[in-house]
Amino acid sequence: MTLFGQDLLLRRDRSGTIVSDDADWVVESRLGLVWVRRLCHEGTGIPSLIEDEAGTPGFPMIACSEIEVEADYDQTVLGLVDPAHVPMVHTAWWWRSSPRRRVKTKDYVPTPFGFTATAADAFASAPAYELVGQDRKVTIEFRLPSTRIERVQGGRLQLLNITTVTPIAPGRVMLRNVIYSSVRPLRWLYPALSLLGRAFLEQDAAILRRLDSHASLHQPLLFVGEPDQPSAWYFQCKMALARAVGGTDAFVNPVRATRLKWRT
Ligand SMILES: [Fe+2]
Repeated sequence: MTLFGQDLLLRRDRSGTIVSDDADWVVESRLGLVWVRRLCHEGTGIPSLIEDEAGTPGFPMIACSEIEVEADYDQTVLGLVDPAHVPMVHTAWWWRSSPRRRVKTKDYVPTPFGFTATAADAFASAPAYELVGQDRKVTIEFRLPSTRIERVQGGRLQLLNITTVTPIAPGRVMLRNVIYSSVRPLRWLYPALSLLGRAFLEQDAAILRRLDSHASLHQPLLFVGEPDQPSAWYFQCKMALARAVGGTDAFVNPVRATRLKWRT
């Protein structure tokens, strides 16, 4: 695999654990995925990996897709937190039932190394959520460096939907989406659901390809109003983490509990 433009060889040791012989890298297996990070000063606060959720151990993976795209890393991560992104980019009928705009309200709270949003409205916009049941609860966590964790809890099933952005090389990223479900037979839909996930990521990639990454590096970003607050928090969290990793202070989360409203 390649990270930050550097080739990294992973192998299984005698016990079957996936390891790297390069001491500069830390390798961990979690949720059936391999997570790699550069070794850094311990004790400064390193974002933790996603644990098996309480009550969700051993959920089978029901979809997995990835797409490599030439794009600016930060611009790609903003797609994970920007609320304007969803209605403008993901326009499939099963995700967006109506093109009509409506007001949406979400409560944000700080969570370790990021923030979590819960819809304060009575509705969820995606027809796909109807499968989960009426009494569903959906939370969306963003966790540094670049992970979006959507948890859907309904009467009929629970879902764990993870999207990540991996920096492969300067100006080149890998977008990945993995979904786990409490309903084991859903794993038989793995090929079809993975294709849907791939279509979703392709919509992200199509927008990213239209952005001028070079220009975005040299022009100041403009954040306007409540819809852009999560994007501003991303950069503030990232700076806070850089300070923590570069120094001896712990990560101080700049996010404050806030209710945000926008038309979507
Ligand atoms: Fe997206």
